[in-house]
Amino acid sequence: MSGYSTSLLERTAREYADKAVMAERTGNYEDAVKYYKAAAQILRRILSINPDTGLREAYVEFIRNYEERAAFLEKSLEKIGVAGRNVESGSQSIERDLVKEPPKITFEDIVDLDDVKKAIKKAIIYPVKRPDLYIDKIGWDKGVLLFGPPGNGKTMLAAAVANEIKAAFIPIDASDIMSKWLGDAEKNVRRIFDTARRIAEGGRPVIIVIDEVDSLMGVFSSEVGGEVRVRNQFLKEMDGLYSKGSREMIFVIGTTNKPWSLDIGFIRRFQKRIYVPSPNYETRLALLKHYCRNLELDPGVNLEEIAKITEGYSASDIVDIVREAYSKVVDELFEKGSIGGKPRPIQMKDLIEAVSKRKPSISQDMLRSYEEWNKRFGTL
Ligand SMILES: Nc1ncnc2c1ncn2[C@@H]1O[C@H](COP(=O)(O)OP(=O)(O)OP(=O)(O)O)[C@@H](O)[C@H]1O
Ligand SMILES: [Mg+2]
Repeated sequence: MSGYSTSLLERTAREYADKAVMAERTGNYEDAVKYYKAAAQILRRILSINPDTGLREAYVEFIRNYEERAAFLEKSLEKIGVAGRNVESGSQSIERDLVKEPPKITFEDIVDLDDVKKAIKKAIIYPVKRPDLYIDKIGWDKGVLLFGPPGNGKTMLAAAVANEIKAAFIPIDASDIMSKWLGDAEKNVRRIFDTARRIAEGGRPVIIVIDEVDSLMGVFSSEVGGEVRVRNQFLKEMDGLYSKGSREMIFVIGTTNKPWSLDIGFIRRFQKRIYVPSPNYETRLALLKHYCRNLELDPGVNLEEIAKITEGYSASDIVDIVREAYSKVVDELFEKGSIGGKPRPIQMKDLIEAVSKRKPSISQDMLRSYEEWNKRFGTL
């Protein structure tokens, strides 16, 4: 084989490598894998033709790089379930990876929180149902922040809205932004919003949910050098949603139980900031009734009393208390060695025992912090 043809091969290898990089950059990972493999294969061929080439070491290094890259991309593709398929474009597969089925939760599943539900409906559901009342007028809010102590329904609310308006549901978290695919975090932020825009242009509303949005702030402060760019990209994308003439129904719902760790630029982009409080006596009672509705209770059970002694407990604590009381009677049934039969009714003491096993998850101090933050920034 002449020197001429190996240099031709070398040029071809380089062209494939360039194509691979381009394909990867535009998110077309299937093609990128193909091209990286082709580039590596050609370099191997050159080595077999011309084993004593002075460039041997460089070639070996290139081959290793290309093959590693191809393997890495292939693995990421496998994760999103499109391995080996070339029919989808990069953007389609990104879309498939980003858009999820929201948990099957409706507003009816969420006990009480009537003011909160109303505020969310006003912010998101009205504009979606009657865009004509908003478009070309004064617009509508695109960013909704749900804040409050842990375990009181913020995540549930976000899912319920998405279901109610049959939105494309894009849940993201900080680690997604950092490492969903390859490339930098800034690009991932752009990708998320590009995908949202593409779906919304087709007429379907989109809800981007950033659960624990405060952890994003953590990302911004720990990512060396890139933090400002990622943060700015995020703020820019949020601004884009508000820009004049933007008609797409895209909403960003952020949830946080540490609102005070958000900075002001961030807070400002979430124009609706809704406090999701921990349950008061009435709500605790309603939660107890709701979660006991399918359980058999002893006539001596006084749920009012349980609601009274659970001041400071979160909604999710209440669910845990009921669950624990129920699993106690179920365990007893099994311990008796019977396979059939049904558990005895839950008694007051079972519930009280479950309460006493745990501490209220929200302290008075914490509560005050939320209320202060709500006074300063809340919009409900
Ligand atoms: N209002 C509610 N009605 C019925 N169940 C509730 C309610 N609030 C919370 N729960 C129960 O508590 C669990 C936790 O709620 P959720 O995940 O929505 O809390 P959160 O406010 O997002 O908490 P965190 O701040 O920790 O993310 C739910 O899965 C549900 O079982
Ligand atoms: Mg949550």
